[in-house]
Formats: sequence, structure tokens, C-alpha cells
Amino acid sequence: MKHVLLIHGPNLNLTGVREPGIYGRNTLAAINAEVVQKCEKLGMKCSVFQSNSEGALIDRIHAAMDECDAIIMNAGAYTHYSYAIRDAIAAVRLPCVEVHMSNVHAREEFRHQSVIAPVCAGVIAGFGKDSYLLAVDAVKAMMV
Ligand code: DQA
Repeated sequence: MKHVLLIHGPNLNLTGVREPGIYGRNTLAAINAEVVQKCEKLGMKCSVFQSNSEGALIDRIHAAMDECDAIIMNAGAYTHYSYAIRDAIAAVRLPCVEVHMSNVHAREEFRHQSVIAPVCAGVIAGFGKDSYLLAVDAVKAMMV
């Protein structure tokens, strides 16, 4: 069975409470439950990890090398400047789908750049919690 790792970066633990006009009112726990359920429906196992720390996120990406087949990652603000997370994704050579709930391109200019996008298979942004569910479809398609 293919194993997907869903990773959330900084501040995403506050999803549902934080800036609901931008990120919606669904909690991260509710979103995770939907993603896990969708993965299972498509015959995939899903593990979930969230951290506000860059190092912890990198350690989890490294650990995925031996246990996972693909990563879905919302790196939060690290998306825009963490060369270390970018290098970690490149190092493990797992297909990674970059996810954002908001349409980062319609927001502040600093959000228009992603330093991790070049090492990801693709990017899904702007569909709220559905961005994660669309990422599951993208991973499934890559696993065939
Ligand atoms: C985000 C967009 C980022 O710019 C921001 O820093 C986040 C959330 C999103 O899901 O839309 O924390 O990744």
C-alpha cells in the first residue's frame, strides 16, 4: 500500500481560528481527517505531521525517505524563504505536492515566490481545504 505523508508547517495548527476569512473555519484536525479518509478510499495510507519548527519539519522529511512514497506539504510561510526545506525535499527524492489553502498569487508580493516549488512535482493553491483533497488526487495519479 502506498504511504503518503501530509506535512503542515508553521501556524497551520491554528487553522480554523487563524484569519478565518483567508483560511476558512475548518480546523486542522477536521482537514486531516478528511485527507486520511480520502487516502484510505483511494487505497493509500496517510500519516500526518505538523510543526512550527523548521528543523523538525526537515527531520520528518528525512525520515519519510525510508517509509513514504509521496509527500503533500503546506510549508506555510517557510514556502517563501526556506532553502533548507527545499534542500530536504530534493534530498529525499520523493514526489512532493506543494499545497496552499489561499491563492498566494493574489496576496502580498512576498507570497508570490515559492523556493520549494522547483523541487515539487506541482503546486495546488487557492481552494481552501479542498487544496489538500486535490493534492491527494495528484498523488494518486502519480502513484499509478
Ligand atoms: C499558506 C500561505 C502562506 O503564505 C502562509 O504563510 C501560510 C499558509 C496557505 O495555506 O495559504 O501560513 O501556506
